[in-house]
Amino acid sequence: MNNLSAVDQSSMLNEVVSGLSREQKQLPSKYFYDQHGSDLFEQITYLDEYYLTDCEKEILKENIKEIADYIGSNVMLIELGSGNSYKTRFLLEELSELSTYIPVDISEEYLLKTANQLRIEYPRISIIPVFADYTSQFDLPVSDSSNQKQVVFFPGSTIGNFSPEEAKAFIDNIATITTNDAEMLVGVDLKKDKAILEAAYNDREGVTEAFNKNMLKHINRKLGANFDTKKFSHNAFYNEDAGRVEMHLVSTEEQTVSIGDTIFQFDEGESIHTENSYKYSLNDFEELVSKWYSVEKVWTDKQGYFSLQYLKKK
Ligand code: AVI
Repeated sequence: MNNLSAVDQSSMLNEVVSGLSREQKQLPSKYFYDQHGSDLFEQITYLDEYYLTDCEKEILKENIKEIADYIGSNVMLIELGSGNSYKTRFLLEELSELSTYIPVDISEEYLLKTANQLRIEYPRISIIPVFADYTSQFDLPVSDSSNQKQVVFFPGSTIGNFSPEEAKAFIDNIATITTNDAEMLVGVDLKKDKAILEAAYNDREGVTEAFNKNMLKHINRKLGANFDTKKFSHNAFYNEDAGRVEMHLVSTEEQTVSIGDTIFQFDEGESIHTENSYKYSLNDFEELVSKWYSVEKVWTDKQGYFSLQYLKKK
């Protein structure tokens, strides 16, 4: 079923055509996430090699008392992204003094379904879903009391899918739309051994490969393109100089692909760059946010692979 509005569809077409017209072909990583892509991503989070989710859960579990102290009471917790994960429920469960929870998501149907479920499970918390793209300006509900503190929760190292410049623009936007005393709890994946990073994006079961290729199926379905996923292979590697894991889809032969009236030519071995996942050192990240926030506290898992960081406005 095609559930994109005409405007969404024409902006998707523009972005796809302009990305594939570049010297290094590229596609925006947001197009991984149709329903099937979101399901595949959820499967990724359970893979042995994909340490990020387990590490973040471990950090939350091991440090929940201290994290709850930082968050405090009479708080409006604003989660950017799904809001339906284990992590959300764990926080809602543990933060006994939380008064308001605001899930922010771009998928309205999913958001409303999640909010309704959470209202039943947590009747003591006021749940106010906000349908918005959090990379753009959006309005937050007004606090129900003057001393309610806003805390933005941005888990999973989704911040790593922005380039450092995009991450700064995102932080600037969040700092602008929140109150002066608003704080932030953010998950940040850390630099580590190349073999561990590359295994996380090249799992043995091939779920990440299916996730990567699903973007082409999504584009076929939404834009009537004719990508043949059998003629592309998954390639994910750590680009040490740029400090990021890159995902690509590599054309296994010389071929053409049409999207509407536009035909794209692929050489054998030519790639489409589909995602960056930046990995930070603690210093790099502190530096990245330094114009807006100071890092008050960093929690890491036992192996030091992943961090949860508590930021306060400067
Ligand atoms: C959503 N994001 C944090 C994931 C990541 O690790 O960059 C997306 C992902 N790509 C491949 N595997 C998971």
